[in-house]
Amino acid sequence: MSGWQLVGLTIIGALVVVFVHDVTQRRHAVLRTFPVVGHLRYLLEKAGPELRQYIVADNDEERPFSRDQRRWIYAIAKQENPNFGFGTDNDVDTVGHVTLRHAAFPVLAPIPPGAPVPCPKILGGWRNRPGAFRPASVVNISAMSFGSLSGSAVEAMNRGAALAGCLHNTGEGGIADHHLQGGDLVFQLGTGYFGCRDDQGDFSMDQLLETVGRGPVRAIEVKLSQGAKPGLGGLLPAAKVNNAIAVARGVPRGRDVASPNGHSAFGDVAGLVDFVEAVADATGLPVGIKSAVGQEQFWTELTRHMSDTGRGPDFITVDGGEGGTGAAPLVFSDHVALPFFQGLVVVHRSLAAAGLHDQVVVVGSGKLGLPERAAGALNLGADMVSVGREAMLAAGCIQAQRCHTGHCPTGVATQSWWLERGLDPASKGARVGNYIVGLRRELLKVAHACGTTHPALIGPDGLAVVGQGGAMVAAHQWFGVDPNHSHPPGRSAGLLQSDD
Ligand SMILES: Cc1cc2nc3c(=O)[nH]c(=O)nc-3n(C[C@H](O)[C@H](O)[C@H](O)COP(=O)(O)O)c2cc1C
Repeated sequence: MSGWQLVGLTIIGALVVVFVHDVTQRRHAVLRTFPVVGHLRYLLEKAGPELRQYIVADNDEERPFSRDQRRWIYAIAKQENPNFGFGTDNDVDTVGHVTLRHAAFPVLAPIPPGAPVPCPKILGGWRNRPGAFRPASVVNISAMSFGSLSGSAVEAMNRGAALAGCLHNTGEGGIADHHLQGGDLVFQLGTGYFGCRDDQGDFSMDQLLETVGRGPVRAIEVKLSQGAKPGLGGLLPAAKVNNAIAVARGVPRGRDVASPNGHSAFGDVAGLVDFVEAVADATGLPVGIKSAVGQEQFWTELTRHMSDTGRGPDFITVDGGEGGTGAAPLVFSDHVALPFFQGLVVVHRSLAAAGLHDQVVVVGSGKLGLPERAAGALNLGADMVSVGREAMLAAGCIQAQRCHTGHCPTGVATQSWWLERGLDPASKGARVGNYIVGLRRELLKVAHACGTTHPALIGPDGLAVVGQGGAMVAAHQWFGVDPNHSHPPGRSAGLLQSDD
């Protein structure tokens, strides 16, 4: 055998060893799915920051999540060093830049590992639902259906929720076995009534009760719209409707499944409130709504009706126009629905005008899985935040932005068995859990720096925005929120009670 042949054989042998290692290991989805060539990604990832720094984009340019933001999420999820060196590379005096105002005398108490950060309000409290409870975590996992996410990704989310002690929203695709890994659930129903529909596709209370009985469902969310595509129906193509998805959704296998752009069970404010109350009466659970914010009149009318009748949703999830989706037309993602903070202000103002701001739980979503945005949401009146794409990143998503093609390379947003096989639910579930716990911890650190013990208790003077001309403006003034409404007495009183 010549020397060259020996070299060739050695290389082939080495590649076979790498191939076998990659395809059998469970740590990296990309390598498990794309053995050998997947290493290129890690090489490029390593060299990427330098290449980008000099040639393409800087650390804060990429969207929706910048390199810095993704690096922070990955580090927290993998329990690696999440710190950054040399100081900020942000333009901290750009108009709109958010600054937390720390206290001269921070809270000194150490933050124990896994320290709890509960919701300031009781979910279901104002309507005295039998299943009312105080959510243990201000950070929870946002609605992402089985169908848009792979079964392995759903399983990782639920395992993560169990580890972090937070709530996992099912999204509007029903409940599958993947959801039943120990994490508490919020069951979401949308216009397709998946998991709670009759043969005609209309809402069925009997089906709802059956589905809710399948798992540890703690609350129900009626989805009116989501920020990335409000007022738009959806179509799950027949090719994606495999057996598991058909069973979870209660639809025939192998046929297109359409979700209309509005509900057939109600068509106005009074009907919506009646529906919420009927679902709450039948299940005993807190029931809320999720919506992006468009025309303001709806919110005025809804909150007025709630205050007049003493009935209505226990919680309102406000989803920002910058929120994520599995698939949406560009015009909807880019131009329909208010951005989160502006939407939050509309909803909060309406609740306050109706005297309900101390009763109804407000949940926020829309890139709130980053500590400064989550702290801002809590400061301006949200009681909890839900994280969608950030939890996907923790589960291995590399922001390939291919959710709509079914070819997600990391197995997160796909139904391809080969791609999904790359995602190990156990290790990725641990990362999702680490990420939620880590975000809560970061929020606690910020709270301590601002002189208080819970991020929802950071006072109205704790958040400022760079205004026109460079002057610092209180965030409440900037967004038009009355501090008495975002910081009602019930908020601090609730957090001081430890036994509910
Ligand atoms: C892949 C994917 C699937 C989603 N599925 C749903 C869904 O079924 N129901 C829903 O209300 N929102 C859905 N959303 C929106 C998220 O729940 C969330 O509101 C939005 O992404 C904003 O949160 P984020 O910025 O933390 O991702 C989905 C988002 C993504 C990325």
